[in-house]
Amino acid sequence: MRLAVIGCGYVGLVTGGCLAEAGHDVIATDTDAARIDTLNSGKLPIYEPGLEGVTERARRAGRLRFTSDSGEAVRFGDAIFICVGTPPLESGDADLSAIDNVARQIGAKAGSFKLVIEKSTVPAQTGEQLRRALAVYGRSGGAKFHVASNPEFLREGTAVGDFFHPERIVVGVEDAESEQQLREIYRPILEGQFHCPVHQPTCPAGPAPAFLVTTIASAELIKHASNSFLGLKISYANMLAELCERLGGNVEEVTQAMGLDPRIGPQFLNAGLGFGGFCLPKDIQAFLRLAERNGVDFGMLREVERVNKRRIDLFLEKVRRALWVLKDKEVGVLGLAFKPNTDDIRFAPGIEVVRRLLGEGAKVRASDPVAIARASTVLAGVDFFEDPYDVARGAEALLLLTEWKEYRQLDWARVHKEMARPLVLDARNMLPPAQMKALGFEYHSFGRPDLTSAPVFA
Ligand code: UDX
Repeated sequence: MRLAVIGCGYVGLVTGGCLAEAGHDVIATDTDAARIDTLNSGKLPIYEPGLEGVTERARRAGRLRFTSDSGEAVRFGDAIFICVGTPPLESGDADLSAIDNVARQIGAKAGSFKLVIEKSTVPAQTGEQLRRALAVYGRSGGAKFHVASNPEFLREGTAVGDFFHPERIVVGVEDAESEQQLREIYRPILEGQFHCPVHQPTCPAGPAPAFLVTTIASAELIKHASNSFLGLKISYANMLAELCERLGGNVEEVTQAMGLDPRIGPQFLNAGLGFGGFCLPKDIQAFLRLAERNGVDFGMLREVERVNKRRIDLFLEKVRRALWVLKDKEVGVLGLAFKPNTDDIRFAPGIEVVRRLLGEGAKVRASDPVAIARASTVLAGVDFFEDPYDVARGAEALLLLTEWKEYRQLDWARVHKEMARPLVLDARNMLPPAQMKALGFEYHSFGRPDLTSAPVFA
């Protein structure tokens, strides 16, 4: 099928690249001409494992093209995926101006019938507004439009695998024809008829994805409801960690046992520095505002946010307790991305920790496997090193802020030798406390007994 993708950000590139890899013909467009030039030169403006291979193969096979001419893309696609950003406004509401702008372009340039699919995360009722906007903006062109919602559940770092092996594909539609078109678009994924870029030679056996057909409003709600619930799970685990610290429990033992109950499940119960990134925090805010505007008090989500924000304060208290005065202390930081396997630092808790350390006069030396370039644009006054051992050299404390497996696998005996004071504060509960103690570290994490006898400045 001929598809257009509007917006070559994260979601647009994964969607366009993977649908082209699955056999469709895709033209993707973006208002940022420099971004299109980068894409046409074979480079990706984002880091996502596996995506470069996918887009490169599809480009070479002639199934994926990039253009800055939105009219070309709109005319080409029988179905058009809207993948533009919906960043938070000051109020917490999602900014939908980019969606409105896209509706204007589609309305003006379509020329023939189009299925217009919301892929961007939008609050419920956007589909309704979009349908009206297309009717208004397309008045003179005479083209007819159908609108559908098809939320993405892609996790940064594993998005390509998530696209080809989703648990569910949700399509919110108003008519049978749109449902049929969307089934056709996803047929290769539903039937496993694709060359999997993630698993070689064959994909592990697993159930086929569920194809859920809902109303547009339900589809829009499902995305916000899912991300808000994930945030709620994390904040719940973080509250347990706080309680374990007071009562001498071990949060890992508690959440492991809880997770074995299939009604609860083991994922997203890792206590630590809290959630960040461009999805969870903004989706929770937008969901809260949506509820508020519609007279529903979803207060528990405010609490989720509050607990999450407090994680950074609590961690800094731990740092202060261990180091006493921060001014002029050499503090090493490992991990800046909001989670592993991505260079995304938007709303990354680690970035906020570094800002606060700098604010208190600490001398920060930092590393991250892939996010240094991005971090250096927002953090002035930090010394960046590619090699984590260089960060440890001479440090009076080493802070683990992102759960990269590379850091788990460090030669910690060597790290111990490099440091001026062997103090590790692990904000992601990555390392075994007993082993760290055996190596001679003073070691602190969240919600687990420290097992440390080193002096602590209270
Ligand atoms: C999220 C959703 O998972 C995905 O389905 C949606 O489409 C987009 O938003 P993503 O933003 O890539 O994906 O990150 P995710 O893997 O959900 O992690 C979010 C944050 O939560 C990270 O900062 C991570 O470190 C933190 N986290 C995750 C925890 O603190 N504890 C956990 O147990 C799990």
